[in-house]
Amino acid sequence: MIPIKAILFDVYGTLLDPTSIQSTASEMMADAPQFVALWRAKQLEYSWLLSLMGRYESFWEITDRALTYTCERFMVMLSEGQREDLLNSWYTVAPYPGVAEGLELLTERGLRLGALSNGNPEMLDKGLRNSGIFDKLEVVLSVEEAGIFKPSPEVYKLGLSWLNTENPAEIGFVSSNSWDAIGAAGFGFRVCWVNRTGFPLDKIGPIPAAEVNNFGEVIDFFA
Ligand code: 2OP
Repeated sequence: MIPIKAILFDVYGTLLDPTSIQSTASEMMADAPQFVALWRAKQLEYSWLLSLMGRYESFWEITDRALTYTCERFMVMLSEGQREDLLNSWYTVAPYPGVAEGLELLTERGLRLGALSNGNPEMLDKGLRNSGIFDKLEVVLSVEEAGIFKPSPEVYKLGLSWLNTENPAEIGFVSSNSWDAIGAAGFGFRVCWVNRTGFPLDKIGPIPAAEVNNFGEVIDFFA
């Protein structure tokens, strides 16, 4: 097996926990967990729909559109200030336990680390800095450069350009999103799927090299 030279990490759901947005939402409505879950689902759905339509809007814009949809569906009327607070909570998403320490360990092992995310650069920059993770990464790659969302191969190709290689097997990839893990595995990355929900793997592609339950096990996989 070819040794891994670098690892790329998905951001939302993998390094940062979008369910932490529930605490802001719970000050505004009764069913905050369901509201945030639908908001997140619509955000991703819109990314896939736009990609299929051959259109691109920033992740921030589709997050905004998905919020409008979710408010309508839940019949929640937000003030301008509340709406802004909810959107801005994407800048302060909490990191999962053990992420910062885990990234440090991997760097000590000589691996180069980066993020590869649907987020647009401003969103990623603020979110990763606020969570204390930005400095643990050598690079933050955004789909904005490719003009299409994951799981398009055009996005995973950004990792090859960064590492200056043509061989995807030299890159490890970590995601909790099973569709992202499958997309990256199909591209040829060595994928570790962090199955945080315990749900089955989606049935649309190659099985990732590993399935683990938490970030500590990610570190063990790349030992
Ligand atoms: C990310 O690219 C999929 O939202 C996830 O960060």
